[in-house]
Amino acid sequence: MNTMNLSKKLKSKSFRLVGEAADAMQRECYVVGGYVRDLIIGRHSKDIDFVTVGSGIELATKVGENIGPRAHLAVYRNYGTAQLHFGKTELEFVGARRESYSRDSRNPIVEDGTLDDDLARRDFTINAMAISVNADTFGELIDRYDGLGDIERRIIRTPLDPDITFSDDPLRMMRAIRFATQLDFDIEPETFAALNRNAARIEIISGERIKDELMKIMASPRPSKGWYLLLRSGLLDFIFPELVRMKGVEVVHGRAHKDNFVHTMTVLDSVAAASENVWLRWAALLHDIGKPVTKHFDDERGWTFHNHNFIGAKMVKSIFRRMKLPQGSELTYVSKLVELHMRPIALVEDEVTDSAVRRLANYAEADLEDLMVLARADITSKDEARKARYLANFDLVEEKFRDIFAKDAELNRKNPVNGNEIMELFGLPQSPEVGYFTKSLKQAIKDCEIEDTRIAAFEYVLALAREKGIEPLFDPIEREKEVEAAAESGAADKSQPDKSQPDE
Ligand code: CTP
Repeated sequence: MNTMNLSKKLKSKSFRLVGEAADAMQRECYVVGGYVRDLIIGRHSKDIDFVTVGSGIELATKVGENIGPRAHLAVYRNYGTAQLHFGKTELEFVGARRESYSRDSRNPIVEDGTLDDDLARRDFTINAMAISVNADTFGELIDRYDGLGDIERRIIRTPLDPDITFSDDPLRMMRAIRFATQLDFDIEPETFAALNRNAARIEIISGERIKDELMKIMASPRPSKGWYLLLRSGLLDFIFPELVRMKGVEVVHGRAHKDNFVHTMTVLDSVAAASENVWLRWAALLHDIGKPVTKHFDDERGWTFHNHNFIGAKMVKSIFRRMKLPQGSELTYVSKLVELHMRPIALVEDEVTDSAVRRLANYAEADLEDLMVLARADITSKDEARKARYLANFDLVEEKFRDIFAKDAELNRKNPVNGNEIMELFGLPQSPEVGYFTKSLKQAIKDCEIEDTRIAAFEYVLALAREKGIEPLFDPIEREKEVEAAAESGAADKSQPDKSQPDE
């Protein structure tokens, strides 16, 4: 057992306050769980869990009285817990418990217990440490299961027989993988073997709680680690069978397709290295989800995955629903990126024309930059020359995007034909109708429907007016041509004499 004093690390005033209240009640009290783990690892952890031998609610009430009216006490009698707000920190109190669970339910049979009982029923050794806050032992670490050693060895291990720990609460199987991914730890072999044996028990856990763990895996620096562990443990079969189907390589007439699971993991990690946006990471995870169902072998073309992006985008919707992932803008975004993920590659495989680049930019809109991050990550070819060629072409496409955006910005400042000219041409007052003309005109130029010149702009505006049955008061094209001719011959524009020059 490790003996260690961490009093110097317990900086928040709340530890002394809680310790004093516990001493006054002659109670043992400890900081436990994630806060202790993170304190030792050096991670920031906001909320603090206290465990006391006796009633957590009574201790919280006493601490609340000592703090005064600033403390907001919330009591959860059903769970025997209480919460106190201390500044920005949330303090959670619970009495030490012995718990046992029945096999078919998550409702434990709870009895009062000692600190040791309480630590034994926790999920992992790294989460089963406590630090005393009573004055005479303040800062002493209680570490019955060598959590400290496991932090040093970077290992996730259960304090008890892992079959018992996981069967008490099967969500802990997801937590094992989530902590291994977040902290880049390994799962100890006995603990991992128990994951394999107990994987099917995950079915009694709600989708909501599973989703929370998956979100934490996705927000980790290298999310693929979690997905590989989920696959190897057998958990993925129960929570995400569509991903399991991506694994493996099929060979027909000596021709193999790539392992789409492995490819997806490479793409996911590249995207994660490039962006913290967790929904872009989901798009990376799901970009090829339509491949297994669209896979086909063709004697001439080999393996094809026709329309896998469209089918994939549809599958995203049902997967998000089933997995309790958000149904709003996040879903729309992921589904859109899955649908569009091949467009940049298709673009550079053909000649990179301005209008093709423009069409893609219009389609992707605000998500264009993210689409390019995904498209770049999707090039996982081992042929380095080929990879370099694609990436150089993407540089070219991105340069064109920048040109187009610069042009658009210019267009937003200055329309080739402005609102005043439209009013003059049709004898219209200032009205939404004028806005309709100018907006449609800008859009037509952006969409490359017409050229960015005054004559083309007037032709377009006249055509729009005809559709609406509005007559022009004069022929603007004729006038424009006259102005152009006059400008060319170097003569001054008679219709707009330059007032800065004195008349002769
Ligand atoms: N715990 C457990 N089994 C669970 C959930 C939690 O034994 N299924 C215990 C662990 O000791 C854990 C503590 O309760 O450290 C607090 O749980 P929680 O707040 O969910 O997790 P943290 O460990 O604090 O980590 P995180 O905040 O990253 O979820």
